[in-house]
Amino acid sequence: MSRLIVKNLSKTFLLGFFSKRKVEAVKNISFEVKENEIVSLVGESGSGKSTTAKMILRLIAPTSGEIIFEGKDIWKDLNTKNEIISFRKNLHAVFQDPFASYNPFYPVERTLWQVLKLLDKNISKKEGLNLIKESLFKVGLDPKDILGKYPHQISGGQKQRIMIARCWLLKPSFIIADEPTSMIDASSRGGIIKLLTKLRDEQGTSIMFITHDLGLAYYVSDRIFVMKNGEIVEQGTPDEVVLNPQHKYTKQLIESIPKLYEKMEDI
Ligand SMILES: Nc1ncnc2c1ncn2[C@@H]1O[C@H](COP(=O)(O)OP(=O)(O)OP(=O)(O)O)[C@@H](O)[C@H]1O
Ligand SMILES: [Mg+2]
Repeated sequence: MSRLIVKNLSKTFLLGFFSKRKVEAVKNISFEVKENEIVSLVGESGSGKSTTAKMILRLIAPTSGEIIFEGKDIWKDLNTKNEIISFRKNLHAVFQDPFASYNPFYPVERTLWQVLKLLDKNISKKEGLNLIKESLFKVGLDPKDILGKYPHQISGGQKQRIMIARCWLLKPSFIIADEPTSMIDASSRGGIIKLLTKLRDEQGTSIMFITHDLGLAYYVSDRIFVMKNGEIVEQGTPDEVVLNPQHKYTKQLIESIPKLYEKMEDI
């Protein structure tokens, strides 16, 4: 079954003070994402990937088109505060910049505690701490290294892992991960991707993974959508897209994949 249906989605930004200039960031794209599926949205900088993600996350309104998540049009059918909170629990984001996702004045466990309170107002501190510790272990972190620390005291890779720990606690049915590995060193990247696929395997989560990197998308996705200038120019299974590309742009992307990926079994 399709968890997400995107139909004829477009976004045009109007820019300028004296004269209005239009930027057509997303142009009439359509696709579906099934339960338990990992899809990648691949394309160069400025191709419209994050704008697409923000519309699906209900952060910016589309100019036209429809986004149906679990049977509801997210821009028409979610009216009450509770409906929106429940939508945000189910469709969750892991962003490019992990630093922006933390309150600098809170120790990190407080960020996770807020998630638990959202799920269950009556949860006890003891229960909460146990769940937080468990979620940190799940993402390969030792709670002793993390608890009590403020965001500036932990590394970028650790922040990314804690964002995924938050997903373990929230159990969203859909995660949009926008360049989740771009802020961290190459050696930690595979680990983060592996954690996302583990979430899918254990919780049935659908994942939309946004990246510049077709090589990485090839190894982690069930299907790949290639974006260029606001359009999806090609979509298919990784083998269809990478081994038998139809569009000129996809062919260019493939030529730019470094040989490094021959060693991807390591991750
Ligand atoms: N709020 C905005 N106002 C005006 N133009 C915008 C806005 N957000 C994005 N754009 C423009 O829309 C286009 C698509 O941007 P978007 O951020 O979606 O690209 P992207 O594919 O995510 O790029 P990157 O890989 O660099 O993150 C770009 O030309 C960008 O300048
Ligand atoms: Mg982006």
